Amino acid sequence: MDKQSPRSGRREFLAAAATGGVGLALGPAAGQEAAAKPKGNSGRLRVVLVGTGGRGSSTWGKNLQNNFGDVLEFVGLCDINRKRMAVARDYIGVNCPMFSDTEFDEMIRKTSPDRVIITTVDSFHAKYICRAMELGVDVISEKPMATDEKMVQEVLDTERRTGRKLIITENYRYSPDGATIKKIIDSEEIGTITSVDYNVYLNTNHGTSYFRRWHGFKQFNGSLLDSEGSHFLDLVQWWLGAEPAEVQAFGALRRYGYNGEYRSARCMNCPHKGKCEFFWDVTKDKFAMDFYVNAESEDGYIRDGCVYRRDINVWDTMTLNVRYHTGVLMSFSLNAFMPYEGYRISFNGTKGRLDARAYHDQPWKVEGPVEIRITPLFKESRTMGAETQAGAGGHWGGDSKLQDSIFRGPIPDPLHQRATNREAAFACLLAIAARRSIEQNRPVFIEELIKL
Ligand SMILES: NC(=O)c1ccc[n+]([C@@H]2O[C@H](COP(=O)([O-])OP(=O)(O)OC[C@H]3O[C@@H](n4cnc5c(N)ncnc54)[C@H](O)[C@@H]3O)[C@@H](O)[C@H]2O)c1
Repeated sequence: MDKQSPRSGRREFLAAAATGGVGLALGPAAGQEAAAKPKGNSGRLRVVLVGTGGRGSSTWGKNLQNNFGDVLEFVGLCDINRKRMAVARDYIGVNCPMFSDTEFDEMIRKTSPDRVIITTVDSFHAKYICRAMELGVDVISEKPMATDEKMVQEVLDTERRTGRKLIITENYRYSPDGATIKKIIDSEEIGTITSVDYNVYLNTNHGTSYFRRWHGFKQFNGSLLDSEGSHFLDLVQWWLGAEPAEVQAFGALRRYGYNGEYRSARCMNCPHKGKCEFFWDVTKDKFAMDFYVNAESEDGYIRDGCVYRRDINVWDTMTLNVRYHTGVLMSFSLNAFMPYEGYRISFNGTKGRLDARAYHDQPWKVEGPVEIRITPLFKESRTMGAETQAGAGGHWGGDSKLQDSIFRGPIPDPLHQRATNREAAFACLLAIAARRSIEQNRPVFIEELIKL
């Protein structure tokens, strides 16, 4: 507990108690039911998918259909864009009915699903989570839980009131390096963690893609701290077994948006394509053509939007100073136009230090994709790689491990990789608090935002 801060105290102690105590592996997540209970005649779990874009069609569509077809069946799809949804239906390989967003209630009534899976644009997650639970259906939703504090409050209140089960899919917890770091910290070899230095780099493929898409606008994703950053902010609270209490953040838009010397609406047909370093030829990407360009007539969504559009309003350069309820301090940064992708993190402990780094596409040679180094005080330093994950697949094998835990459960969870909804709420609340801090130029306390 940070004795320096007038805001820390009993409330934060209660928060720690509620999550099972600092540094302990927490119990089964609230949403971690045993094996999902089917109610359909087929004996398989009846699922509907809301949001049939890239993530929905692939990870939560085709992959589920191919790998879990013995335990679940798709009974409905829902999206604002009928053309995209029709392409998605073929891509997933199902033949279930399709519904527009305004027909969501009708879909639930007609298809009687056991689970609603939500993979829409971020800012609509909370609306569908709450409506599905109101209609008596359990929910699996992509992160982030929500894009502002009122939505978070509504989700938690609705979950409590309806008693429905909600799983927010914090898949990065299932990455091999995430698990290795968790084990080292839990072993207490480097003692009690006092502070964390964490830098995340998004490259001109991954990071730039956000500025071509809906992620460039706060109204759709809160900010990149929520949409992308909440992955990393969730990892930290999981590794530490601590809840964020306070943040002071800064953010700037330094490379994209109004910083460009020229611009157009999109890359396709852009008069500057010969000289623009960010030019991306969407016509060479079959998936993007099928799912987005050929479906533009429905909703006007442009997949290859110009990264220099003047109305882009998220930051590409962000730093956070965070205090956790345990007194641990963190400095964190997220940069979205880097020449290579990856992260480096250091945990400073009372008995030593843990450094980890993972770079991808870096223009120099490194030993292995991930290096983890333990340096106990007054002893030799040693390095190790992360554990490897059999089968790999999306997000270093994390996606399929997470899906196994949901659909092949119950699966032992000794590292507490399944996030509770309280933790999923805190992951996005820290991002939301950081956004408020940047906008209002002041420190923001999480307890200002939400009643838990
Ligand atoms: N966990 C991860 O690693 C990971 C990776 C990628 C994406 N995601 C998340 O998955 C979600 C989808 O991302 P994506 O990359 O597939 O985006 P996308 O743009 O490809 O797909 C979003 C889909 O939502 C639909 N949609 C938008 N508004 C809607 C509404 N009101 N009602 C119904 N449908 C609506 C769009 O038409 C589109 O089909 C996002 O929340 C994103 O943050 C998570």
